[in-house]
Amino acid sequence: MGSVRRGELVLSRADDVWVWDEDGKRYLDGTAALWYANVGHGRAEIADAAAAQMKELAAYSAFGDFSNRPAMELAERLSDLAPGDGWRAFLASGGGDGVDTALKLARRYFAAIGEPDRLHVISRTSGYHGTHGWGTAVSGIPVNREGFGPMVKETSQVPHDSLEALEAAFEEQGGGARVAAVIAEPVIGAGGLYPPLPGYLEGVQALCRKYGALFIADSVISGFGRLGTWFGVERFGLEPDMIVFAKGVTSGYLPLGGVMVNARVSDPFFEEGGPIFKHGATYAGHPTVCAAALANLDILEREHLLDRARELEGPLFEGLQSLVDHPLVAEARGGIGLLGAIDLVDASKVQDVFLGARERGVIVRPLAKGLAVSPPLTITQEHIDEIVSTLRATLDAVA
Ligand SMILES: Cc1ncc(COP(=O)(O)O)c(C=O)c1O
Repeated sequence: MGSVRRGELVLSRADDVWVWDEDGKRYLDGTAALWYANVGHGRAEIADAAAAQMKELAAYSAFGDFSNRPAMELAERLSDLAPGDGWRAFLASGGGDGVDTALKLARRYFAAIGEPDRLHVISRTSGYHGTHGWGTAVSGIPVNREGFGPMVKETSQVPHDSLEALEAAFEEQGGGARVAAVIAEPVIGAGGLYPPLPGYLEGVQALCRKYGALFIADSVISGFGRLGTWFGVERFGLEPDMIVFAKGVTSGYLPLGGVMVNARVSDPFFEEGGPIFKHGATYAGHPTVCAAALANLDILEREHLLDRARELEGPLFEGLQSLVDHPLVAEARGGIGLLGAIDLVDASKVQDVFLGARERGVIVRPLAKGLAVSPPLTITQEHIDEIVSTLRATLDAVA
């Protein structure tokens, strides 16, 4: 809390790409809140769907054989939207919950098929997987692991862009025999905004296949249009064993996350007398939340927002690249999906640029070395121009 004493920004209202604070000042939301307001803010349609569901059956657990129609519809719809066949959806409360689910399920799966020594999980430097227990253990951001003592022991991180390092990490674990899974974001988000090098993710998948481990895509940011596809992985032709999702699945209107699980991993648990996955959160399959997700998916489809993200990813990246001539800017990254970042030459100036842009009416997201942009998918070229020109004016002022 010591680091946020410079003041609170109390927000009170939002509409599409705009948010207002309590004093009535308007901001362009260049970050879609925390990378999630994909359909933009203030959609009455989602509020109405949630309200209607609340009046019917607001909440009920989906444990055991209990279920509800919105949860079933959502699971089925997500399975249809995921690339390829045979998907099942395990619903959870958010992204970190989804990560914990996926990594526990990876271990449980291998125990179930008689490979209980496969406990190890490999993740990547700069990777972010939330702040729950497992997400902390596999975090590629060292500061996020500091001060908590030992987390899950059977984890290691490899440089996020090196397939050689990944292969070596496999080899270190009993020639790969102890590795349960590799977890990777399609585009690294919170850890610094790094799109993958060409062929890298395909190579990760190939190494997982070679060594018999599961490949888990953490698409919490990359999904639901952010990369112009439903789950981010289609962008690279990937077929992971699990896909963690959250954020854009409801555009944040209500909290929901989960894991898409392919047939290889889920089938054993559906066999008569098969193993039980003793795992699940109170609010998993929450009918009101699932109704909001369904309404959100309707909007994404009806307004072709996935296509729109693809159309605007180039212009956004070009806008950020135009800032590289500024003496404070070291580089720009982006080009895959409607998200990008600039790194500053001097990381100590990040906070000044973040706050300066905000004073000028544009919200961007501070990263360790720079600033990220990930606007609602409803953004226009004009809005992009406004983000870029505000960043330039702010950089000039800070310089
Ligand atoms: C890639 C990724 N995984 C997991 C999470 C954690 O999600 P949540 O904050 O909903 O627990 C995040 C959150 O930003 C994320 O970006």
